[in-house]
Amino acid sequence: MSNSTEMPSNPIKAGWESPSNIALIKYWGKHGKQLPRNSSVSFTLSTAATRTFVTIKDENRTGKVELDFIFNGKENPAFSARVENFLNSICDEYFTFLKKYSIHIDTSNSFPHSSGIASSASGMSALALCLCDIENQLNDKTNFDENFCLKASEVSRLGSGSACRSIYPEVAVWGQHEDIPGSSDEYAIGIRHQIHPVFKSFHDDILIISAGEKSVSSTAGHNLMEGNPFAPVRYQQANQRMKLLITALKQGNISDFGKIAEDEAMTLHALMMCSDPSYILMEEGTLSVIRKIKQFREQTSIPVFFTLDAGPNVHVLYPDEGESQVNAFIQNELKPYCNEGRIIRDKVGTGPEKIS
Ligand code: PMV
Repeated sequence: MSNSTEMPSNPIKAGWESPSNIALIKYWGKHGKQLPRNSSVSFTLSTAATRTFVTIKDENRTGKVELDFIFNGKENPAFSARVENFLNSICDEYFTFLKKYSIHIDTSNSFPHSSGIASSASGMSALALCLCDIENQLNDKTNFDENFCLKASEVSRLGSGSACRSIYPEVAVWGQHEDIPGSSDEYAIGIRHQIHPVFKSFHDDILIISAGEKSVSSTAGHNLMEGNPFAPVRYQQANQRMKLLITALKQGNISDFGKIAEDEAMTLHALMMCSDPSYILMEEGTLSVIRKIKQFREQTSIPVFFTLDAGPNVHVLYPDEGESQVNAFIQNELKPYCNEGRIIRDKVGTGPEKIS
């Protein structure tokens, strides 16, 4: 994909707000340059998002990225170093302007830093969109067309695999799959036009069971899949479940959708528990909430399901229909398991937005 180098006479600035996403079929296991071992599909969220502004100005003659980085209004040396490494790793292939000017990045999350919610998907996608936007401005382009999205997705992927899905509204697929034309390991694609309307307003209430730092990072978790004896069969299973889930999403089949989403969450954590060394990211509260959700669904026949990320927090998934009963259930039965009663009420969202 293209690279640009024109010299700006004034500072050039781009701002984007990009959401997080929740995988329904999980990406777990990677190879090469952040390429997935299986395809995955996610809901793009709306409330959990990152706002990022990137400015390029003044000529830089150091021959490497010169970064000035502000996170949530303050300097953050650890985060800054990670972003600088990332920019150095992509500049030659994707954005040569990154080494020619000094770069200022100002970024903040809409959700509290200490909520245990991973910000890498929203953060990396917001950053990639800003970089593609600056490249557009350098090339006197104003359109955010398909190629713009594909490049933003590919660059996001290099920052954090799952981030590549956040570029698209509602539902995105990442990873080559025989049933999904245009799907690729290099970037995600949006599939909202194929999705039944019932899923376009689906709720995802995120129960913050623990706000602490994870004991094992996602990067370490992906790497442990390389020695996991169940890995080959897992990758086949994921591709099989993709078929079933895509069909359910197209048909509006909520019960098939919910069963697959829950099975995926359980599989992800089972894979962690049978890695060598094994580890557990669920907490006691995670298990209690899962049991309660299953019980509530059995007793009321109201469609409410759960999924999990690589952490203890529980994503409660349900359609608009039955919202008031599910809300009452969450408030009365699940909130007591949340850290300081914290719940982020999120929904399927319309994707990133340019900040003018
Ligand atoms: O993008 P990473 O490297 O943080 O990995 C994300 C892995 C999961 O969140 C567990 C699953 C997924 O597909 O988002």
